[in-house]
Amino acid sequence: MHRFKYKHNALFCEDVSVAEIAEHVGTPLYIYSKNTLIDHYRKIENALREIAPLICFSVKSNSNLSVLRALVAAGAGLDIVSGGELYRAKCAKASPRKIVYAGVGKKKDEILEAIRYGILFFNIESQEELELINRCAGTLRKKVNVAVRINPDVGASTHSYITTGKSHTKFGVDFDTAKKIFRLSWKYRNTRMNGVHVHVGSQILNSRPFEKAVRKVLVFLKENEIFIEYLNIGGGLGIVYSFEKPQTAASFAMRVLPLIKKTGLKLIVEPGRFISGNSGIMVTKVLYRKKTAGKNFAIVDSGMNDLIRPSLYEAHHTIVPVRKSKKSAKIKYDIVGPICETGDFLAKGRSLPSLRQGELLAIMGAGAYGYTMSSNYNSRCRAAEVMVDGAKFFVVKMRETYKNLVRGETGRN
Ligand code: LLP
Repeated sequence: MHRFKYKHNALFCEDVSVAEIAEHVGTPLYIYSKNTLIDHYRKIENALREIAPLICFSVKSNSNLSVLRALVAAGAGLDIVSGGELYRAKCAKASPRKIVYAGVGKKKDEILEAIRYGILFFNIESQEELELINRCAGTLRKKVNVAVRINPDVGASTHSYITTGKSHTKFGVDFDTAKKIFRLSWKYRNTRMNGVHVHVGSQILNSRPFEKAVRKVLVFLKENEIFIEYLNIGGGLGIVYSFEKPQTAASFAMRVLPLIKKTGLKLIVEPGRFISGNSGIMVTKVLYRKKTAGKNFAIVDSGMNDLIRPSLYEAHHTIVPVRKSKKSAKIKYDIVGPICETGDFLAKGRSLPSLRQGELLAIMGAGAYGYTMSSNYNSRCRAAEVMVDGAKFFVVKMRETYKNLVRGETGRN
C-alpha cells in the first residue's frame, strides 16, 4: 500500500495535491511519501520481529539524504556500496554499527574510510579484496568484521541484469572458494570472519530463491563446521509495478524465518526497492503530441536521463494522469522523452485517456532506482526531489541548474 491516491479525480501524495507541488517546483519532479517509506520499513520489521534482525536499507535504491534520515530515525541501518554512499550515511547520521558494505570493487581509500568510521561489516567478494581489507585494518590497528559473500548459484526469475546469485555473475565467491577462505581465516589476523552474505537478485516475486539460497548456505556451514554469528540474506523483495503479485513481507518471513530461527544466527536483511519503490513517483509534463504511421507519441519533459528503468530493463511503470478527465476514450501512446535516442521511452503502446498538451502524468513506482540512476545525458539538468509528510511538502533536492552542469569543468584546451 502506498499513499498516492486520487481525491476527487486529482492525484494526491498523502494530503498534498501532486499538481500543486508541480506548480511550485516545476517538472520533471520526484515526489516521495515519507509515511509510505516508514510503513514499508515497519512491514519488514514487524514480519521479522521474532528474531529482531538488523534491517539495512539499500542506499543505492534511493540515496536522498532526507529519505535516509527518515529511515535512520525509524531505526534502519544502511547497506552501502561505495565511499560516496558511506559519505551519505555519515551525513544521515547513521550509526556505524548498523552499516554493511558490499560491492565487488571497493578501493583502498574507501576501505580505510569505512574502517575509520567503524562500520559493522564488510561483505567481501574476493580473496584479494579480503587481503586488502586485512592490510588496511592492520595499518589502522583495528580488527574488522568480515562476511564472505557467497554466490549460491540460485536463479531468481528476474531480469538477467538484476540476477546476482547465478555462478556466471561477478558477485561473491562460489562455495569451494568460500570454504578455502574460511579455512585460511587464521591468516587474516585483523579480521573477524564471522558472517556470510548472499544476495541473489532484485525484484524477486516469490520466496523460493531466498529459501533455496539460505538452505544451501546453512548446509555449507554445517558440512564444513564453519561457525559464524551473522547471516546477511541481502535484499531483493519485489514490488507491484503493474500486475505483479509479489510475496508479502509476512509470507517471506514465513518461509525464511523457520530456517534461520533454529540456527541462532543474527539476521541482516538489505531491502531497497521494497521500502522505497512505491514510496515515490516521477511527475512529468506532456510537451507535444504527434502521430506517425500507426503510432501516437506523447513527448514528455523527462526521459531516460531521469528514469532509465524502461530503457535499460524494459521495465513497466504504471503511468496515470495527475488529473483524471471525465471519461474519454483510451488511446495507445508511446510516452517518450526529449533525449536523442530511440531507446528513450517511459512506456510503449500504453492505453491512456486522450492526453492534452501541458497535462501532468505520474510515473508510479519510481522511488527506487529512479533518481539514483539518473544522469545529465544530453546536458539535461537532473530533476528536483520533494518529500511529503502529511499535509506538508518540502524540496529535498533542488533542481539542477546549468551552472551545476559545468561544475568542475575547467574549459582548458
Ligand atoms: N543488497 C545488495 C548486495 C544489492 O546488490 C542490492 C541491489 C540490494 C541489497 C537491494 O536490492 P533491492 O531490495 O532493492 O532489490 N537498478 C535495478 C536494480 C539493481 C539492484 C542492485 N542491487 C533496477 O532498477 O531494477
